[in-house]
Amino acid sequence: QPPNSQTEESCVLKRADCRAKGGAPGFKVAILGAAGGIGQPLAMLMKMNPSVSVLHLYDVVNTPGVTADIGHMDTGAVVRGFLGQPQLENALTGMDLVIIPAGVPRKPGMTRDDLFNINAGIVITLCEGIAKCCPNAIVNLISNPVNSTVPIAAEVFKKAGTYDPKRLLGVTMLDVVRANTFVAEVLGLHPKEVDVPVVGGHAGVTILPLLSQVKPPSSFTPEETEYLTKRIQDGGTEVVQAKAGAGSATLSMAYAAVKFADACLRGLRGDAGVVECAFVASEVTELPFFATKVRLGRRGAEEVYQLGPLNEYERVGLGRAKKELAESIQKGVSFIRK
Ligand code: NAD
Ligand code: LMR
Repeated sequence: QPPNSQTEESCVLKRADCRAKGGAPGFKVAILGAAGGIGQPLAMLMKMNPSVSVLHLYDVVNTPGVTADIGHMDTGAVVRGFLGQPQLENALTGMDLVIIPAGVPRKPGMTRDDLFNINAGIVITLCEGIAKCCPNAIVNLISNPVNSTVPIAAEVFKKAGTYDPKRLLGVTMLDVVRANTFVAEVLGLHPKEVDVPVVGGHAGVTILPLLSQVKPPSSFTPEETEYLTKRIQDGGTEVVQAKAGAGSATLSMAYAAVKFADACLRGLRGDAGVVECAFVASEVTELPFFATKVRLGRRGAEEVYQLGPLNEYERVGLGRAKKELAESIQKGVSFIRK
């Protein structure tokens, strides 16, 4: 007789009790799209995160297998699987953080915007579920095109009367991860020593690395600046082409998503000084959404930082980024308002 439900419930209760007594907090995290190319390694890495007490894995296919597999890892989080739309509400109820990598990925020759129609519909359904079942959860939205899916999610939450701009974060962490990697290569440093702010959005020219603000302070030749900016902007396409029809970045994305989710959980826990880049509601430019560094706290993105000083190359890049971003944001908003 499998000891499943009793053991599982007592694990959850013990952790909840620990949290109530002011012990190490255990957060409840749901992954929507958990059986996919990103979802599976993301689920594995979240199961390894000691801040997670309960991990809900939701998808429209294959969650029983992924859940059984990940559930055997001897780490603390209790894992539960949810399959198909009738189980969405149970997957979401009580969650502190919801990570969304659900949706179709690119194939060679496609732009992220080519994914708009199908992924917009998926994001709407999932966000309606969030608004109903865990309106206070922090949402990490990965599904592309992020420049449009975040405005779409915001509109869904507004309609439901649950919108809190601080709690909705488009995940642009992979751009930062790539930027750190490529810049470290050029500087001959370990990537951990490098911090590159990447602002704007998450597609082509909207991805704007601020090389003038790299830490440690570094200077780049015009050729290096051009090479690095292009490589960071085209990082996703580089992977799509290398995978030759088998999808887009999944493993580096799962790594980046976990890095970002962990920062959100540290913020929720009340840690000070948790700062990462994300695509959020913003007053930094005239656009309603923009990616910059944000400070993560108990209520999500509690502070949105200004761009800081830009050089001429970056000012030109910012103009291009804003033009494309404005269209992508408007496309998302109009789609749902119609
Ligand atoms: P994938 O096809 O391997 O996995 C997607 C999963 O979503 C599948 O398991 C599918 O069943 C599931 N799904 C589809 N409809 C669903 C629904 N209604 N509810 C729940 N789950 C549903 O794709 P992937 O490689 O994991 O990529 C997923 C998305 O992430 C794509 O849109 C991709 O473009 C995007 N992405 C974003 C970034 C970023 O930096 N933000 C990076 C990489 C990929
Ligand atoms: C990425 O940057 O890798 C993702 O947005 C996936 C893609 O389509 O490029």
